[in-house]
Amino acid sequence: MKIGSIDLAPPFALAPMAGMTDTAFRRLVKRTGGCGLVVTEMVSSEGLVRGIDRTLEYAEYTEEERPVSIQIFGGDPEKMASAAQIVEGMGADIVDINMGCPVPKIAKHNAGCSLMREPEHAQEVVSAMARAVKIPVTVKMRAGWDHDQINAPEMARRMEDAGAAAVAVHGRTAAQSYSGQSDWDLIASVAAGVSIPVFGSGDCIEPEDVVRRVRGTGIAGVLVGRGALRNPWIFEQAAAIASGRAPRIISEEERGRFLLDYVDLLLNERANEAEGFRHLAPGTASAAEDRPARGHDRWVINKLRALNSWYTKGLDNGSHLRVAVNSADSIARLRGIIEEFFFQRRPVRML
Ligand SMILES: Cc1cc2nc3c(=O)[nH]c(=O)nc-3n(C[C@H](O)[C@H](O)[C@H](O)COP(=O)(O)O)c2cc1C
Repeated sequence: MKIGSIDLAPPFALAPMAGMTDTAFRRLVKRTGGCGLVVTEMVSSEGLVRGIDRTLEYAEYTEEERPVSIQIFGGDPEKMASAAQIVEGMGADIVDINMGCPVPKIAKHNAGCSLMREPEHAQEVVSAMARAVKIPVTVKMRAGWDHDQINAPEMARRMEDAGAAAVAVHGRTAAQSYSGQSDWDLIASVAAGVSIPVFGSGDCIEPEDVVRRVRGTGIAGVLVGRGALRNPWIFEQAAAIASGRAPRIISEEERGRFLLDYVDLLLNERANEAEGFRHLAPGTASAAEDRPARGHDRWVINKLRALNSWYTKGLDNGSHLRVAVNSADSIARLRGIIEEFFFQRRPVRML
């Protein structure tokens, strides 16, 4: 399966998730195998064009993540075209435009899902981007704005005409946010109406769901969001099922190792970024880590708290881990909690 000249093998992708699919998480997912494409968190076109450091950080990626798609949001055709050129200059394989975000902060600026309410304007934005860059431009949309304005099939045709190389559809409306179910029949009808590849998104929690959604449906690929936050091995397992093999059972130790590796990558990331920060060898606890968390340590703990609200859902006693991680006040304590829970199979100690 290809988007432009970019080969996706297999056609299962890590969906963009603000606050969650940072470069550290994406790298770890890629290492588990079976993930054909990763998409960054959404990045502001305005921030890219103005060269704001924090925005540029969201767009950073590493070579091992390739192929990588950087998702941008905004509603101004010229700015979106310039932002797409910046993304291309950063070496990304694909630039994706967010037409699905229902959050008022984004949608009220003619960006995110509100672009679906202005199909002609949305088409202008995508045309401007496609003219400005050589890399494929893709569009991620929802079913429509609300129940009375379900227009993904029409939007997808317009996007194809504007030069999009693929579209992805989350089969809920903006009004639904995350309630109800993603409408995969609608996604199949979008796929039937265009000749570019169509990806579906929504509610693939088990690896079997991922495979089922592409078999005989005309849907080219699947974006997995929350299912990958619960189980980052979902891609590896889906790829096994798709090729007729049994999915591998993931051990408790592997699940614990994933979180510890995430802590290490996040710590190193900050250490690499800020001059003067100590560099930690992966897995090394230092005396400094026993100190109550401040600054970047606190940021790492908060990232783990955010991931754990999903990661613990499929685990026995997951709520214990979640509560314990929420109480962690240092990196050393955070590591200790993860090790106790996954490696020693003891109930985590509460402070
Ligand atoms: C925490 C979170 C953040 C998200 N952020 C984005 C985003 O930045 N851009 C985007 O296009 N979709 C975003 N989404 C939507 C997902 O990409 C996906 O379409 C949706 O969650 C449905 O798929 P799922 O059921 O596999 O999670 C986000 C979803 C979640 C849960």
